[in-house]
Amino acid sequence: MIKVAPSMLAADYLNLGSEIDKVIASGADVLHYDVMDGTFVPAISFGQEILKMASKKDIPMDVHLMIQNPEKQIESFARAGAKYITVHAEAAGFGLKDCIDKIHACGCLAGVSVKPFTMVSAIEDVLDSVDMILIMTVEPGKGGQKMIPFTVEKVRELRSVLKTRGLRKIIEVDGGVNMETAHLVTEAGADMLVAGSAFFKAEDPRAFVDALRSMPEPRDE
Ligand code: DX5
Ligand code: ZN
Repeated sequence: MIKVAPSMLAADYLNLGSEIDKVIASGADVLHYDVMDGTFVPAISFGQEILKMASKKDIPMDVHLMIQNPEKQIESFARAGAKYITVHAEAAGFGLKDCIDKIHACGCLAGVSVKPFTMVSAIEDVLDSVDMILIMTVEPGKGGQKMIPFTVEKVRELRSVLKTRGLRKIIEVDGGVNMETAHLVTEAGADMLVAGSAFFKAEDPRAFVDALRSMPEPRDE
């Protein structure tokens, strides 16, 4: 079953509580929480204090760390209420496996993410250890961008690598997911879809979530 993760980045911050209620009422599976540090990506978004408040709501928090030196922040985001914590391979470098171990030691599920121009082969060493792989389908840093077509092939490639190695992991995609593009990534093997602007612009958020959930799965199954 495909999971849906609305991204808080596209919410109305003046009404955050009711925006999160909207996400819960839509039946979405998790709330995607984008953390940006102004270094790994140009913008700065929100940190641990807002997560602490948001995580009081009844929906699991999927924290996407678009930050340099993620190892320094893992523990505090776990304490603030994260269920999933995803770090970028490009930001963690040789410390990637240590980050994953740290996320697990904090009691969270661990994700690793790659930017559009980072190859799937860059994370092959850690596929055994992670719970989730987040394929960025846009350059990280802001919402409302168009999905980059070649990233869909990376989803397909990752799925085939996982299958060959007999690994079952969540494949999450993030960036430019909407009613028109979602089927491209689900057919390629994505099982968790992040949607920011498309979710918050949807007239009927529940219908939007249901529609994403029923996107076609890969044909070879
Ligand atoms: C972008 C963030 C995304 C963003 C997606 O760097 O990681 O989670 O909110 O926004 P949309 O769905 O509008 O592309
Ligand atoms: Zn994100």
